[in-house]
Amino acid sequence: ENIILENENFNIFEFEKKIGKEHILPSLSVYVLNFYELFDEIVPYNKFENFVYEIAKGYHRENPYHTDLHAADMLQSIFTYNLYSKFQVILNLSDIDLLSIFISAIIHDYGHPGLNNNYLIRTKDNLSIKYNDISVLENYHVSEAFNIILKKQDNNILSNLSDDDYKLCRKNIIECVLGTDMTLHNQKYQTFKIRLQTENIKKGEGLEQFLLKQDPINLYNLKLEFLSFIIHAADISNPTKPLPIYREWAQRCVEEFFKQGDLEKKLGLPISFNCDRNTVSLPKSQLGFMDAIVSPLFTVFNEYFPQLSFTLDNLKKNHKYYKEIVEKEKNLKK
Ligand code: CMP
Ligand code: MG
Ligand code: ZN
Repeated sequence: ENIILENENFNIFEFEKKIGKEHILPSLSVYVLNFYELFDEIVPYNKFENFVYEIAKGYHRENPYHTDLHAADMLQSIFTYNLYSKFQVILNLSDIDLLSIFISAIIHDYGHPGLNNNYLIRTKDNLSIKYNDISVLENYHVSEAFNIILKKQDNNILSNLSDDDYKLCRKNIIECVLGTDMTLHNQKYQTFKIRLQTENIKKGEGLEQFLLKQDPINLYNLKLEFLSFIIHAADISNPTKPLPIYREWAQRCVEEFFKQGDLEKKLGLPISFNCDRNTVSLPKSQLGFMDAIVSPLFTVFNEYFPQLSFTLDNLKKNHKYYKEIVEKEKNLKK
């Protein structure tokens, strides 16, 4: 049963059915941390269990998309990336770095209300006031998660860490989760794309040399950039999954957008991009998402880590699938 997790075709929806909604994030998390032997010396197992069940409970299960299942999916995606690409070895990540990226995945949409930053800002939601309109949700996810960690000794999964390690781990997590704000996508994409040219990195060649020539401070910042890039990639990885899995995620994501649109309509607000259920077509919006965001990013990602080519293979097939639907719809209208 465990072996299915270590596979690019892992089906999280099937696994959820088997194991139960409330156990999916805890069980995947325990599996991953255990795989990398992060228990018990670094992370006390019992505290981790308390922590992860409380985090899972704080995801809003009534959201179509932003639930603990999405967090579990991100964690599994990152786990698979590391299995295939060994990015941990290439980037020379410490146990603390690895732990940071896993915790980041677990908490990265914690407490998500099913409404996006723009909506919260436009409606002057308390959260937008608290965080001054800057990465409102992302700030909220990290802050609330750290409240969970620190509020009880029994939840404190970081209690074994030295002050320095705690500081490092916290810095990594903050950087990674704040880095999931989609408004940072373009900057991330450009930085990593330009670096391919300036450093002559191609199909994985040149990456190790590039890392070797960095001084320690640079190297740390670079590692952090990579961690944040990997998290972001996993966050938008739906279209790189096998088609049945992608279709399910797309349905859920679009439904959450439509629910926001319904609310905007009710409040007499202009309906946000991709949120109008009366005009937006799912296949078209997915093609747009792939063409503008996912394909460019995963193409660059694959130049650094070519062992992840299964992501591009899936992406190509999925693109073709939705393209054909859009063409058929066009022909029907003629
Ligand atoms: P979030 O999970 O907070 O961060 C990544 C964002 O990408 C996600 O919210 C959505 O806004 C967007 N996203 C992810 N998957 C899809 C998808 N299949 N279609 C449209 N948007 C998506
Ligand atoms: Mg998010
Ligand atoms: Zn997310």
